[in-house]
Amino acid sequence: MERLIQEYAEDHIRTGRWTREEGPTEARKEVERLLPQGLRTPGHYLLSIVTSPGEERVGELWLAAAPSEGPRRGFIYDLLVYAPFRRKGYAREGMLALEEFAREKGMTSLGLHVFAHNSGARALYELLGYRTTDLVMVKDLPHPSSPPK
Ligand SMILES: CC(C)(COP(=O)(O)OP(=O)(O)OC[C@H]1O[C@@H](n2cnc3c(N)ncnc32)[C@H](O)[C@@H]1OP(=O)(O)O)[C@@H](O)C(=O)NCCC(=O)NCCS
Repeated sequence: MERLIQEYAEDHIRTGRWTREEGPTEARKEVERLLPQGLRTPGHYLLSIVTSPGEERVGELWLAAAPSEGPRRGFIYDLLVYAPFRRKGYAREGMLALEEFAREKGMTSLGLHVFAHNSGARALYELLGYRTTDLVMVKDLPHPSSPPK
């Protein structure tokens, strides 16, 4: 939870949604709203990616039903492969295993959000067959007294 809150805050500070001061508090509120019972929140699956053989933990996945998108759409809230284990195919394998897991839960499609600046994750999702359905666009409005760039 602490790792999620910290990363969630960083990502949204980076996009300009929250200031550095408000980021940690706002991120905590949002993560706690999503997971009111922590790991035991019904309908949320907080999973580890482990090696085979060896069962070493190399990353994490968080899947939940996305009722606002229809009862059979799953939503991937988080994917993380720990830094020393990256570019070895663990995310790809983990995401493919997650598809099976989601099917067993009755889900017929999976959605996710990825920041535009996360080119590595975007490349991975495209490789796995995810397509873009929405684009969110932002323009900064500098104070009129700031010199033009
Ligand atoms: C994104 C992330 C999960 C990828 O995990 P990974 O285990 O390194 O990914 P894989 O080894 O399975 O990569 C499979 C393919 O995806 C693409 N890919 C993955 N990471 C990439 C990167 N940093 N840059 C470019 N392409 C990348 C490549 O095509 C790669 O195949 P290749 O290594 O044969 O070129 C990992 O970098 C991570 O945890 N990042 C921080 C958290 C994060 O951004 N999560 C996603 C939130 S939406």
